[in-house]
Amino acid sequence: MDKVIIEGGSKLSGKVDISGFKNAALPIIVGTILANDKCKIDNLPMIGDVYNLVKIMEMLGAKVYLDESGYMDIDTSTIRDPILIDEITRKMRASYYLLGACLSRFGEVKVLYPGGCNIGVRPIDQHIKGFEALGAKVEVEHGVISCKANRLIGSKIYLDVVSVGATINIMMAATMAEGTTIIENAAKEPHIVDMANFINAMGGNIRGAGTDIIKVNGVNKLHGCNYSVIPDQIEAGTYMIAAAAAKGDVIINNVIPKHLEPISAKLIEMGVEVAEYGDSIRVNGNSNMKSVNVKTLPYPGFPTDLQQPMTALLSGVKGTSIVTETVFEGRYKYVDELKRMGVDITVDGRTAIIKGVDTLMGSKIRATDLRGGAALIIAGLMANGTTEIEEAYHIERGYENLISKLLNLGAKVKEE
Ligand code: EPZ
Repeated sequence: MDKVIIEGGSKLSGKVDISGFKNAALPIIVGTILANDKCKIDNLPMIGDVYNLVKIMEMLGAKVYLDESGYMDIDTSTIRDPILIDEITRKMRASYYLLGACLSRFGEVKVLYPGGCNIGVRPIDQHIKGFEALGAKVEVEHGVISCKANRLIGSKIYLDVVSVGATINIMMAATMAEGTTIIENAAKEPHIVDMANFINAMGGNIRGAGTDIIKVNGVNKLHGCNYSVIPDQIEAGTYMIAAAAAKGDVIINNVIPKHLEPISAKLIEMGVEVAEYGDSIRVNGNSNMKSVNVKTLPYPGFPTDLQQPMTALLSGVKGTSIVTETVFEGRYKYVDELKRMGVDITVDGRTAIIKGVDTLMGSKIRATDLRGGAALIIAGLMANGTTEIEEAYHIERGYENLISKLLNLGAKVKEE
């Protein structure tokens, strides 16, 4: 998908089904390495990052069958060599999960420094701190990371920053270590819990995921399992924001409302109607939305991955809203693109001051990263006239069937 073209102004209405969670699916696919066996995974999102990761797993030697329904059969017993020096791993952040998984299974690993969205410096010092605390020797040279350990020994690790990636990587590295590992100040996101449940389904012994203290009791060996990925909190949040932006009435199916509480609360504060039903949420937008302040935080705070779509919504809401991005230091690159549509946003470091405008104007703009691209889609739905979003491949990395889902909700949208 190179370009998305949107005719703005349509009210969204109807139902949309949410896909599997990208940020749970990626560590789960890599986590199958720990099993050294066959796993059956379903509810995987059919998105660019999953296709990319399948290529990476096949390059490592795994046998992978993936069908369009999101069902995967994967055999990692055929992986022999935990070394992959190939540009493909730089296309995505989640390739860093190869570190924890291979170190745990093989006692060694060598891969390129991970890539991913350009939203800040994104160091991996906390991952390395965890691996070293477990007894691994870690070297980073010429963009290559290599880790080696004769024996991983359980340890107490306090994370200096709440990191999703470091929490999951250390959980994997500690799964078959000798003794117990305690991860303190751990991330609590829903996908951390999903990953711990997956490892436990393979015979692991992880306790406390979802709290800031995780206990990993090392086990000798894991085995294959059948597992189903949780629904995507961020995809669901994006459609909730789109429904409000397009003043529509949308039912979002296949969600876990608890995971969406930070978003529901903010939309309700704006005066949007949000109602929860079992595994769906109904969002009813209107023209009297009021401006609010948003501060992104680790879960259960407002997710940083919805900062950009939320800012786009607020750019068309009367009054002044202040958005503070506390997780990443460079996550406002999309604002320059929104300015081409006539918004009034001033960015000062990690803060964006948004003065709502009556009308956004359709324009030619460019996606800067995955969620920045989602923000431009939201703006295009709100705008007068036609918006053309170039480099739309960024968006395809994390949203399954975006165009057909929006068309089903009554949006005037197409891809080129
Ligand atoms: C994960 O990235 C997600 N990516 C991101 O989603 C998400 O924005 C982020 O978590 C926060 O929720 C995947 O799951 C693949 P972090 P990650 O480690 O693991 C600093 C999307 O749009 N930090 O929780 O890279 C870091 O720089 C993507 O789907 C260190 O300083 O995020 C950041 O400021 C974008 N040292 C903060 O912690 C470290 O070793 C949180 O980062 C690790 C992180």
